Amino acid sequence: MNASLAQVLDSYDATAPLDEAFTIPGPWYTDGRVAELERRAVFGRTWQVLARADQLERPGQFVSAEIAGEPLVAVRGSDGVLRAFFNVCRHHATPVMTEPCGEADKLRCGYHGWTYNLQGELRGMTDWEGVSDFDRARFGLVPVRVETWENFVFVNLDKAAPSLLDAVGGLATLLAPLNVSRLRFFERREYVLACNWKVYVDNYLDGGYHVPHMHKGLSSVLEYADYTIENGTRYCVQSSPMTQKSAEAEVASVRKGDRAYYLWLHPNFMINCYEGTMDTNLVRPLGIDRCHVTFDFYFEDVSEARRAANAASVEVADTVQGEDVAICEGVQKGLGSRAYGAGRLSVRREAGEHLFHRLLHTDLTSELGRE
Ligand code: FES
Ligand SMILES: [Fe+2]
Repeated sequence: MNASLAQVLDSYDATAPLDEAFTIPGPWYTDGRVAELERRAVFGRTWQVLARADQLERPGQFVSAEIAGEPLVAVRGSDGVLRAFFNVCRHHATPVMTEPCGEADKLRCGYHGWTYNLQGELRGMTDWEGVSDFDRARFGLVPVRVETWENFVFVNLDKAAPSLLDAVGGLATLLAPLNVSRLRFFERREYVLACNWKVYVDNYLDGGYHVPHMHKGLSSVLEYADYTIENGTRYCVQSSPMTQKSAEAEVASVRKGDRAYYLWLHPNFMINCYEGTMDTNLVRPLGIDRCHVTFDFYFEDVSEARRAANAASVEVADTVQGEDVAICEGVQKGLGSRAYGAGRLSVRREAGEHLFHRLLHTDLTSELGRE
């Protein structure tokens, strides 16, 4: 007999303490009904990164993306205010912006040419004479909540959700002294992985458990024994002292400083900081067994003189990512195996995963409770 969705969710015991806890079970990573519920309960109700603030600095700059199945566009208005909208024309539902990012003086729907200004107001309709009972003011683009924290522009589809700063919580205080606002965007890398998006997050949140086994280069600059893991309400901070003692040369030259910080904000955004550099990872589901990961790399100095050094740093991250892709795709296969039910968690290492799984359980069961 097939289990109901409620039974699949209930097969995880969110009340178990870390030393007794299991991971969320295999079907959470392979059952399309869980993915559909996550679309509404997780991605449709949490703050989701849509863009970098540096992409939306000037009036007319825009970024479009799909989040929780909804086409969205953020644009800075001619009045200087940043807004976000559903990227859906009020005539017959075509996206009004088809480019992923850029600069425009208006939003013009390509289908029948309706135009909206940068504030989302409907300004022009062709061949519209004779249409009765039509109030143009009521046919502007439908707004979406948008807020900015550090260099990250977030949107939230849930009108009732707490503010972005509430969601970020103590992470804001933790990130502030790292002074990442002085860093400049350098390069974006994108990856498609044959695994559920949660496999990627689990791998990120294993407290460095896999680092000595999977990332020999990275491991050579981290003091693995002193790695720390601290959970907040909806975030986890992993941190490791760094060492140059037995460091591999090409890693050591671009991974310097006293400490590495790996910050995760529920559900799908990660910020990695080393001295003078930061990269962010945004993971979005593409289906139950595929996900898309965007890496944005930032450096203190992005001048031409530093280009080669910055590029070398990106390559080190790309090597680590390649190692993670291989393991994540292998895990996805195993999660679907009849041999697997659910795993256990290392008390020393995997508290972050435990938090992630409990938050997901809350998100998903409360959504089912609303229906
Ligand atoms: S759908 Fe946009 S103008 Fe017709
Ligand atoms: Fe890794």
